[in-house]
Amino acid sequence: MEYKKHLFQTHGDDRGMLVAIEQLNDIPFEIKRIYYIYNTQNGLSRGIHAHKTLEQLLICVNGSCKLLLDNGYEKETVLLDQPHEGVYLPKGIWREMYDFSPDAVLLVLASELYDEADYIRNYDAFLAFAKEEKTHEGSV
Ligand code: TYD
Repeated sequence: MEYKKHLFQTHGDDRGMLVAIEQLNDIPFEIKRIYYIYNTQNGLSRGIHAHKTLEQLLICVNGSCKLLLDNGYEKETVLLDQPHEGVYLPKGIWREMYDFSPDAVLLVLASELYDEADYIRNYDAFLAFAKEEKTHEGSV
């Protein structure tokens, strides 16, 4: 699938750890927005949508959570449990975040400002979008 795991360099010494992420150097887009999710309720999922153009990088900077990723043709589950590991999601990936540990903090770097029009929240509409994208890929 089109997602990519990034293992960021850690700068550790006897004071602790530090991770730096630079746009276009460590991740493939310019960062226009940052948001984070915490205090997640046990047993609940978040996300449950795809994006038409948005690229994102997800890092569980504390605790852990799982991602269910789906490109319309295959599904994969990814565990995020290391503060120096990120998952890059290009456009067109359906995602669900779940199994948050009580202390989980999920940091998201995004390539665009918030735009509700970029969301695909209906799964059937997502499958149609994925099919359309694949048709275009094949015709280039
Ligand atoms: P929502 O898309 O439901 O979050 P998730 O993908 O984690 O399930 O967003 C929750 C609320 O926050 C919703 O009212 C929209 C708002 N929001 C913003 O205002 N800006 C943002 O960057 C994001 C991601 C959400």
